Amino acid sequence: MNAIDIDTDFAIAMRGVTKIFGDDPNTALALLQAGRSKSDVQAETGHVVGLDNVSLDVAKGQIFVVMGLSGSGKSTLIRHVNRLIEPTAGEIVVNGADVLKMSLDQLRTYRRTQVAMVFQKFGLLPHRSVIDNVAYGLEVRGVGKAERLREAAKWIEIVGLSGYEQSRPRQLSGGQQQRVGLARALALDTEIILMDEAFSALDPLIRSGMQDQLIELQKSLGKTILFITHDFDEALKIGHRIAVLKDGAVQQVGKPEDIVLRPANEHIEEFVRDVNKARAIHVRSIMDKGEFEACAQSVSRDARCEDVLPLFAEHQWVGVVDESGRQIGRVTAKQVIKALARYTPGM
Ligand SMILES: Nc1ncnc2c1ncn2[C@@H]1O[C@H](COP(=O)(O)OP(=O)(O)O)[C@@H](O)[C@H]1O
Ligand SMILES: [Mg+2]
Repeated sequence: MNAIDIDTDFAIAMRGVTKIFGDDPNTALALLQAGRSKSDVQAETGHVVGLDNVSLDVAKGQIFVVMGLSGSGKSTLIRHVNRLIEPTAGEIVVNGADVLKMSLDQLRTYRRTQVAMVFQKFGLLPHRSVIDNVAYGLEVRGVGKAERLREAAKWIEIVGLSGYEQSRPRQLSGGQQQRVGLARALALDTEIILMDEAFSALDPLIRSGMQDQLIELQKSLGKTILFITHDFDEALKIGHRIAVLKDGAVQQVGKPEDIVLRPANEHIEEFVRDVNKARAIHVRSIMDKGEFEACAQSVSRDARCEDVLPLFAEHQWVGVVDESGRQIGRVTAKQVIKALARYTPGM
């Protein structure tokens, strides 16, 4: 397939990306393409299928989550985007540029200016202060000292770490260290941020706070975020779209409510069974459509049930508006509570 066919409105497009680990990937590739499973290929050739014919489109300005169990190929997938891994087959186009055709020089520039990465284990430089860690990417890019420290200080404040500029990473908690990692990625001011299980090492409460902050930052900065997680709840909470990966292959791609309400197969049903489904349901999928009298309170059609529930302490129903603020329907307390009751185990 030719890169010309790929819509450049997407931040990231992958087409038929397959990765086989081992010395003779083409033999294994042929077996895989003939329909053999990952375990068959491994048994017959000793080669490991990392990714199996992955095609994805990540829209600009969205949080796109790739979710899957350990070993499903999540890290392999995200590492293709900045070409830390070369595919055995397939195409990868980022912001309209064919990543696989880049020269080493172009690739270096691409990594410094277009895709910043946040790692699970934080990846901070232990002997540098927080501010020097945050400024590091800018230093590599050749930005002068005064300017990079000014930028770094700004992002440190935004992630809530003011006062820690001169601390060393080891003096900080896990959550604080990951805020440094996030600030460092944000300081690069790339359009795309890659996050590989960035919150997985954090305690639940800290993690939840980080998720909230990421959602807020994404909204205000309009970044494209490719976010990897093995946690389905996390995927539902932060993803605009979610791809579910198993054995290196994409099982389903969709909005959170698509996945929860219409799981494509048994593997996905298993995840869904365990979550509070109401979290993912958007107001628009349960509202009454049409014109109603104006009301004091309104919510976006993209709001989620769990977020609007508190409003019903004071209102019997609230208006639902589209992006331009036009009222397109209403949702009642009863509808939301019904949705919650239907989907919350034990309620
Ligand atoms: N460098 C490698 N060499 C051989 N196999 C690998 C390598 N990296 C990953 N794999 C295998 O590829 C599959 C996907 O791994 P990975 O992308 O790390 O999964 P995840 O991030 O979802 O846990 C696994 O079966 C893993 O063992
Ligand atoms: Mg991984």
